[in-house]
Order: sequence, then C-alpha cells, then structure tokens
Amino acid sequence: MAAQHVLAIDQGTTSTRAIVFDATGRPVASAQKELPQIFPKPGWVEHDPEEIWRATVEVCRGAIERAKLEARDLAGIGITNQRETTVVWDRATGKPVHNAIVWQDRRTADFCAALKKAGHEEMVSRRTGLLLDPYFCGTKIAWILNNVPGARNAAEKGALAAGTIESFLLWRFTGGKVHASDATNASRTLLLDIRKGTWDSDLARLLGVPLSMLPTVVDCAGEFGVADREILGAPVPILGMAGDQQAATVGQACTKPGMVKATYGTGCFALLNTGTLALHSSHRLLSTIAYQLDGRRTYALEGSIFIAGAAVQWLRDGLKLIRESAEIEAMARQARDGHGVYMVPAFVGLGAPYWDADARGALLGLTRDTGPAEIAAATLDSVCYQTRDLIEAMRGDGAQIDELRVDGGMVVNDGLMQRLADTVGTPVERPKVIETTALGAAFLAGLQAGLWPSLDALSKSWALDRAFRPYEDAASRDRRYTGWQNAVRRVRSV
Ligand code: G3P
Repeated sequence: MAAQHVLAIDQGTTSTRAIVFDATGRPVASAQKELPQIFPKPGWVEHDPEEIWRATVEVCRGAIERAKLEARDLAGIGITNQRETTVVWDRATGKPVHNAIVWQDRRTADFCAALKKAGHEEMVSRRTGLLLDPYFCGTKIAWILNNVPGARNAAEKGALAAGTIESFLLWRFTGGKVHASDATNASRTLLLDIRKGTWDSDLARLLGVPLSMLPTVVDCAGEFGVADREILGAPVPILGMAGDQQAATVGQACTKPGMVKATYGTGCFALLNTGTLALHSSHRLLSTIAYQLDGRRTYALEGSIFIAGAAVQWLRDGLKLIRESAEIEAMARQARDGHGVYMVPAFVGLGAPYWDADARGALLGLTRDTGPAEIAAATLDSVCYQTRDLIEAMRGDGAQIDELRVDGGMVVNDGLMQRLADTVGTPVERPKVIETTALGAAFLAGLQAGLWPSLDALSKSWALDRAFRPYEDAASRDRRYTGWQNAVRRVRSV
C-alpha cells in the first residue's frame, strides 16, 4: 500500500517540532524541542544553526517513533519555518559562518534608516512588497558579509550560500545537493521581485548581496530533494516548503480572496488572501507571496506584529509573575474593571503598521492599586489591540473582513479569544486543529505526494471548533482602543 502519512517539520522561533499527519489531516504523533535564544546585545537575537539542525533530526526521529512508523512509511516531508531568520554557510563544508540572525534582530536598523534616507524605500517596496526594516533578510546577509572576516571575499568567489531556515534544512537533509528556497520564504528577503518571482539584481546591488549566494526559488509543493538515508533511516522525499505564516494560511484553508487568518505564536501575523493580485498597501502592510503552486502565485496582504506570545513569556521568565503561560488567563480575570493599564510590547520595536525599529516597550496608566492581575490583563489586551491595528489597516486598504480565523498556541485561551472578538468587533473563529502551521506544511507535502487532490479539497476538511462573537458595545470598544493608540504614541521614537 502507498504511504499514508506525511511528516511536517515546524522550525519556529522558540521551538522545533515534528508532527506526523495521516491522510485525513489528523495529527498522529509529535515531538518538540525548545530552541535556546541567544541575545548578544540589546536588540540582537541569534540562533545556533547547528542546534537547529540537531533538534530537527531529533524531533523527526521522535515523531516517527511515537507514530509507530518507520521513515520508509512516510509519503514525504513538509518543512515550514520561522521566516526571515538568516543563515550564511560555507558551500564546501556546510558550516555556518555565523549564528543565524533571527527575524526579531534589530542590528541593521541604521543601515535600513540610511537606505530610507537616501530615498530607496519606494522602489524597494514596489518590487518586494516589503519595507526597509531590519526584520527582513537582505540587510542581515549584508551584515554577516561586512562583519565576518573574509566573508565578503568568499561570497564574491561563490564559496558561500545564504538562505532562510527551510533552505538550510533542505541543504542539510540532502547532504548539500540542493540549495533552494520556496517562493514564500524568498519573498521575505528584500531581494525578490514578488510579481516576477525572481531575484532582482538592482536590489542585490543596493544591499550588497552577491546573487550567487542565493538559492533557487521553487514552488511550495514539488520534488525538492531526498533526505539522505542515514538521517532518518530511509530516504524520504522533501515535497513541501513554506514560511510558517504562509503554511498557516494554507492550514487555515484561507485559499479564497478576502479570507484572513491570524496566527498567535512568538509574534502575531495576519494574512489576507488577495488572490492573483499583489496589492500595494497604503497603510504600511506588507504584500507577500501566500503560496506558489505550479508556478502560479497567490498573494496576501500581511500585518506583522513582533511580540504576542513573547509578551506572556516575558511575564513568566522576565517578571516571574506567572509560573506557566497558561496561568495568565486566570490572573487576568482578577483585574479591576476599567483599570486603564496599557502595555505596549515594543520589546524589539514595533512592526505593522508603525514600523518603528527604535520604539521600546512600556506599561502606562499605573496607579497605586495596579497589581499583577492588571498587568496580566493589559498584556493580553495588547495582543488584541495590535490585531485591531492590523484589521483597521486591512480595512483601510479596502478589505471587507467579516470574520477572523485564528490559530497558534495562544488561541486555546477562551478569555483572550472573547476579548479579541470584542476588541476587533468581528467574529473570531477557532478551528479544531490549531496546529495549522504544521498542518499547512503537511498539506503541501501531501498535495505533491498525491494524498490530497487539490487545495480546494483540503479546504473542505477545515472544521470549526468555536466562534467567539463580539458583545461589547461599539462606544466602549472604541474608547479602549483610543487609549491604546495614545499609549502607542507615547512609545514611538519618531
Ligand atoms: O516572520 C516571523 C515569523 O515567521 C515567526 O513566527 O511562529 O515563530 O512567531 P513564530
């Protein structure tokens, strides 16, 4: 019998996971490993690529074993990943020349500001759909070339390869035979012309990145290469690749123009399907490739929030207000009504729609009776207000948003979901499978393997767990939101 399972790898910012899915899209078994964060300086965030590789192999083996399968029982592998996090490695040895520079890292803020000052943002934005912000890969690659001794010279001779995490993993799985990146990940580099789907030599020159370092851009489903036998015990084809937010868009079955999903992980990323049109936002949203299949691109408008779950993590690990993230819901419920506390979690600057790399976080509206409960509530509220910022921007760009599909670890919190619906003023829909990022990667691999006939067929398997409807009256919702906007104004650097 043909293989009936696929293995999805979700290499995220804070953990690496592998999940085995069966042919009905049901998760069968999983394994997970935390990823240590490296903070060399304020505003800098790195990961050890070797650690990422070791963890990936370990969780893949673990998930296959727990599913009581062997690697030869798998139809294929789908890889999804934290986007923008950048690795540069030596083509001859496969060794990274520097730690991975993580998407949240702000070290290239000055370079971005200088490019903006020189008037390049308009052209960059028209071609890439992105903005000149340190979030994206291009300036991170340039930083490595400019700061690792000998790197630029080696890159110019064609000895170095650059890529995002899926590209690095594909290289490692195939023993250095394949250097490719899927179109969604490539669309986050500042180097891809998203309308043509090809690398742009003007942008490469502007950022100082030799084109020879860049991977081949491929679809999100295809025969990308085969994992070497000794890694998982049998050769397994790698058939799917997509950035995590784009994979979640597929996993949420947002395959029709106008559909929108928000994923709550370390950050929060809302993607609105815009079909075959790469729209240019007038509200500082990004235009990005949602997926590319058979060479055809579907686009999305994206709002990117850098800190969502990471704010709860900070309450746990930084302030030590809670021992487990799940405790926040009960603590927030104790907050005094109308407490007026706002938390602006600009720990690594602000993403959409503000794009202020130098803004920093703040707690505002504190009074003598402010306690942990109010701070917990303000932290959860910040996730809701930031989502509203994105939805307002999408509406400003002409979208009609009647419902918001949500996923990611935080959405198990019913209190937060109700607050989200009240803050945004739109029904919030939570699906049965909230691991939609991994599911999306599994879908892409399964599509290629022939387990599922089409994306449309997959859409039919999306099932609602619960819809949260807004109850708060519009006046009070808007009053709270005005308070948020005032708080944001106070932390802006410009
Ligand atoms: O753009 C960054 C994003 O891909 C990271 O996602 O889930 O690790 O917060 P996550």
